[in-house]
Amino acid sequence: MRVGVLTGGGDCPGLNAVIRAVVRKGIEAHGWEIVGFRSGWQGPMTGDSRPLGLGDVEEILTRGGTILGSSRTNPYKTEGGVEKIRGVLAEQGVDALIAIGGEDTLGVAKKLTDDGIGVVGVPKTIDNDLGATDYTFGFDTAVHIATEAIDRLRTTAESHHRALVVEVMGRHAGWIALHSGLAGGANVILVPERPFSVEKVVEWVERRFERQFAPIIVVAEGAIPEGGAEVLHSGEKDAFGHVRLGGVGTWLAEEIAERTGKESRAVVLGHTQRGGIPTAYDRVLATRFGLHAVDAVADGDFGVMVALRGTDIVRVKLAEATAELKTVPAARYEEAEVFFG
Ligand code: F6P
Repeated sequence: MRVGVLTGGGDCPGLNAVIRAVVRKGIEAHGWEIVGFRSGWQGPMTGDSRPLGLGDVEEILTRGGTILGSSRTNPYKTEGGVEKIRGVLAEQGVDALIAIGGEDTLGVAKKLTDDGIGVVGVPKTIDNDLGATDYTFGFDTAVHIATEAIDRLRTTAESHHRALVVEVMGRHAGWIALHSGLAGGANVILVPERPFSVEKVVEWVERRFERQFAPIIVVAEGAIPEGGAEVLHSGEKDAFGHVRLGGVGTWLAEEIAERTGKESRAVVLGHTQRGGIPTAYDRVLATRFGLHAVDAVADGDFGVMVALRGTDIVRVKLAEATAELKTVPAARYEEAEVFFG
């Protein structure tokens, strides 16, 4: 049997650990041949692939990024994309695919299964916003990086009596903001799920200054101010046509400075949250996902995604996994509010 593996969407720490587990178990337990497709769905559309042997996955467990490369190519948005995939898989004798990705990649995996191509999905995203799994790998690493940044920013903020706004990733869900903000002892945490009042943020900031401490505000890149203020968000194009990295954090830091008369700075953590070595937790989760994805292929159980439920790895239908994003529930946000100000 020949099994293809690919990584799609934004990269995240732990992708190589999944690839390693797929290759090790696929070859050693089943005697399969493993083919790595390059650059997400682009690989199976264009035939860009390489055989993956045991030697290819030595020493990749701890490496960030993906040895296969990634892209946001969607065969359903490309003329004849699905037929191209069908042709390449037939030509290369590939019987099944393991697709490692987020909402978009797994949405394609679901449609391909409906169209008769056997795909098993593995969830990944630093944002942790995929439904049907308790956690995605990459998230723990991102939270560690953001927490370390908050710890570092606190000491410089204290030295200069400044407010420091830390903008973290999360366009639709505030999981990284919530967890890193809690872990880093942030004085305000703002998430996309709950439009924020600038007046309220200023109140919390002033209260913190009154107590002789520097306020740390953690804001998810997708957070929105109440009242329809015009804010350019990360990922949007600015007046020069350049794609912005960060936006709401800088805007908020300026508002705070203007309204409080205190110095304020914004730091956009951006892609540092996605780079570098995965934490031990993410390596273990990614490895377990890879092993269980191989089991699903061996069982001929396609159209499923491996998922974490409690401490168990289970299989869920891709349809369920891609049905809706997992956002921060009100009760989880309210836990954090106790520490604001
Ligand atoms: O989905 C992962 C993610 O890192 C988001 O948190 C972020 O908004 C987006 O990808 C950034 O995408 P890109 O790397 O294409 O700028």
